[in-house]
Amino acid sequence: MPAARFVEQLNTQIGHEFAAHQQYVACAVHYDLLTMPQMAAFFYRQAVEERDHAMMMVQYLVDCDEPVTIPSVPAPQSKFGDVVEPIRIALEQERRVADQINTLTAIAREENDFASDQFMQWFIKEQVEEIATMSDLLTVATRASHDIEAIEDYVAREQSGQPGDPTAPPIAGDDG
Ligand SMILES: [Fe+2]
Ligand SMILES: [Fe+2]
Repeated sequence: MPAARFVEQLNTQIGHEFAAHQQYVACAVHYDLLTMPQMAAFFYRQAVEERDHAMMMVQYLVDCDEPVTIPSVPAPQSKFGDVVEPIRIALEQERRVADQINTLTAIAREENDFASDQFMQWFIKEQVEEIATMSDLLTVATRASHDIEAIEDYVAREQSGQPGDPTAPPIAGDDG
């Protein structure tokens, strides 16, 4: 049975993951309106991943018979000054989420909640990957901020989507 403190904090995290979903949809739409289909598709995919993270957390709480409260989320930033700003915001968001994931793991450990500690391990690895992806993209986009086709080419070549991760926790409502 998960520790009460962990359950409360995981419910909060579900809101952060849905907020990340909304932020990435806003980033995707920004690029879609600039007719940058590769960047738009990249952020639409990132958005779905964030939604999946939220639903993995929902599934964990349901599996543990713990209460789940789906929170409202603050509106994302929808106006951006250029092609680089959404990526800068995305990287900040991923770093913030990594801190939140670490805090959740620390709570599980403090409470000797070993199952929750193990549940968090996949998210720790995921944050390392997402920070690396956004950091690389920020470097490329900053370098090529006046050559959007170069950014599009990079995303098409290096970030065209990976196959599903078989080690990922189950996603609530996913019948696939
Ligand atoms: Fe996430
Ligand atoms: Fe993320």
